[in-house]
Amino acid sequence: MSRIITKAVFPVAGLGTRFLPATKGIPKEMLPIVDKPLIQYAVEEAVAAGIDTMVFITGRSKNSITDHFDKAYELEKELEAKNKTELLKLIRDIVPPHVSCVFIRQSEALGLGHAVYCAKPVIGDEPFAVILADDLIEDADRGCMAQMVELYEQKNTSILGVERVDPSETASYGIVKTGESSEKSAPIEIIVEKPKPEEAPSNLAVVGRYILTPAIFDKIEKSGRGAGGEIQLTDAIADLLNDEQVLAFEFEGRRYDCGSKLGFLIATVEHGLLHKELKDDFLDYLKKLTKKF
Ligand code: G1P
Repeated sequence: MSRIITKAVFPVAGLGTRFLPATKGIPKEMLPIVDKPLIQYAVEEAVAAGIDTMVFITGRSKNSITDHFDKAYELEKELEAKNKTELLKLIRDIVPPHVSCVFIRQSEALGLGHAVYCAKPVIGDEPFAVILADDLIEDADRGCMAQMVELYEQKNTSILGVERVDPSETASYGIVKTGESSEKSAPIEIIVEKPKPEEAPSNLAVVGRYILTPAIFDKIEKSGRGAGGEIQLTDAIADLLNDEQVLAFEFEGRRYDCGSKLGFLIATVEHGLLHKELKDDFLDYLKKLTKKF
């Protein structure tokens, strides 16, 4: 099996119901944090990890994602004619020339496990990454996926990005219990999808970053409907644990839960404070605002 991760799967077929009505006509992955859609942050993280094939699992009303990563011929011509070279560069650089994008339509939204399974014809017999764009992860030095790819190159086994959450929040995540380890990664002993706090084996939550060996596809095929009546990736990973080691990795970086309205707002404010053109004026504004409350 290859030791190098070259492909990333982006499941983007979800209905985005938590953001209705904003997501009635556009996918939640196209909601912008300041001036970039969530899906672009996710793709940039994959590119920074050395990944060159982006596999989008799309659904209905997701054409804007395809358009975003395609050449915008008319817009480019217009910007060229107006000599707007910086903007032209900005839109041309959305995907670097060495990166390919593949779009697979998931005709029924049957769950995350099913979405990942839809990528099987493109992935073949290679390990691959999965990135959920609504978990936006920032790291000043290296991206989360770059850290995971580096670990994969040493360990050659499936890896899940994890983070401690408040014990009251376990029902929103896949939760793992790990064995002892002196390193930043530890072997997973138990994984359960969205347990109630009183049933959770720990408060170590899986965030939307996975490196999986292709053995996962057989496991998904065998999985029935799990939590919420969906084919859950978590259940297939639980089955994978019977055959292979799977590591939980506490990455470096800050995660923003952009799948929730509060997390989305926090990400927006903090990215506003990081934005090179906006940060000073925005900070002044926030200082004035806080004095009012
Ligand atoms: C999915 C996974 C869950 C994981 C979470 C991370 O849930 O099923 O195991 O912890 O992503 O964001 P979702 O948030 O799509 O309901």
